Amino acid sequence: MNNAAPSTVRKTGPKLNGRGVRDSTNCSAIRLLGLGVYLPERVMTNDEWSQYVDTTDEWITTRTGIKQRHVAAPEESTATLAVAAARDALDRLGMCPEDIDEIIVVTDTPEVCIPDTAPFVQHQLGARQVPSYTLSGSGCAGFLQALEIASSRVDSGVGRILVVGAEILTRLVSWQDRNTCVLFGDAAAAAVIGHGTVGAEILAIVAGTDGSQTGLLTIEVGGTRHPFTLEAARQGKHQQVTMNGKQLFRHAIARMAEAAVQVLAKAQATLQDVALVIPHQANLRIVEGVANALHLPLQKFFIDVQDYGNTGSASVPLAVWDAQKQGKIAPGSLVLTTSFGAGLHWAAALLRF
Ligand code: ACO
Repeated sequence: MNNAAPSTVRKTGPKLNGRGVRDSTNCSAIRLLGLGVYLPERVMTNDEWSQYVDTTDEWITTRTGIKQRHVAAPEESTATLAVAAARDALDRLGMCPEDIDEIIVVTDTPEVCIPDTAPFVQHQLGARQVPSYTLSGSGCAGFLQALEIASSRVDSGVGRILVVGAEILTRLVSWQDRNTCVLFGDAAAAAVIGHGTVGAEILAIVAGTDGSQTGLLTIEVGGTRHPFTLEAARQGKHQQVTMNGKQLFRHAIARMAEAAVQVLAKAQATLQDVALVIPHQANLRIVEGVANALHLPLQKFFIDVQDYGNTGSASVPLAVWDAQKQGKIAPGSLVLTTSFGAGLHWAAALLRF
């Protein structure tokens, strides 16, 4: 395990108490105040995929743990999913869109090429004309990257920040490519970050990037290096995900485990302090690998990849929401989240509920 210092290390909120882990009653702490989720109505099973590509429920289940995923309706777009999740988060908190002072949208499946997706979300949500921007292409690590940015923005005086991870990945990938199409699902999950007394205190976040591995998961056509052409579109290259699954698998385990160790060190906490680990939900076998690397029983990990597949930037907040819904997070307990995605990017956060 590489224990080198992460490229970004930020301690959020006030100083640690004597035990290292901060006092849960601290009102000035920066918090993930609440979460909201939107899942498209249509559920697609593994068996249904076998009507489109040469695959089986048995192959998908044994290789990934995925049993089903949600698929957005044709009239839905990334912004409509994001707005629905944001409304859910605001409703649960008794807030309205006017209460939001900044918006960060995270997505690999933008509403249009230009402008970015955040302005669409701001307008459709009915938020004020607050700064709104988008983190894109950072894949499944994007939500925790945005959580770090949001925490530092709150630390610097911004009031409440809406962070939304939203993806329609089933529209990005080719439905003829069995190597990738079965892995992903559509979802949006939103969080409100700010000072307050509800939700989860953000104790520490770490993030990092290894730009030497950009080729491990990429769609090359459509950028300046490989501009979009009619010929490329005819060949389906705009949907051609180049993925080195085995290498990604290896990096995902190593980086998620390293980030988990780093964030605990930063918060002066230990794995024994952690009640639940909520990893990015890409693949059950990757989660098993992270559990092995950290010498933790799998029972300590929350897993819902079987229900949603890999939902990219929505994966971590959706899983935290799901764990709360299932009563898996006790008040006062420490929850460790860790994620990894194309880039390669990784990030981890330690939260106290
Ligand atoms: N159904 C049936 N067969 C398939 C399918 C499918 N859906 N997809 C691929 N195959 C075939 C391949 O064509 C290949 O066949 P071949 O050997 O004849 O060439 C074979 O299965 C590959 O099998 P394995 O080597 O056993 O596959 P592996 O155990 O590596 O599992 C997987 C593949 C699931 C992609 C794995 O490598 C993985 O999960 N990697 C991580 C990828 C990932 O999660 N990407 C998401 C984005 S990054 C992130 O979120 C972390």
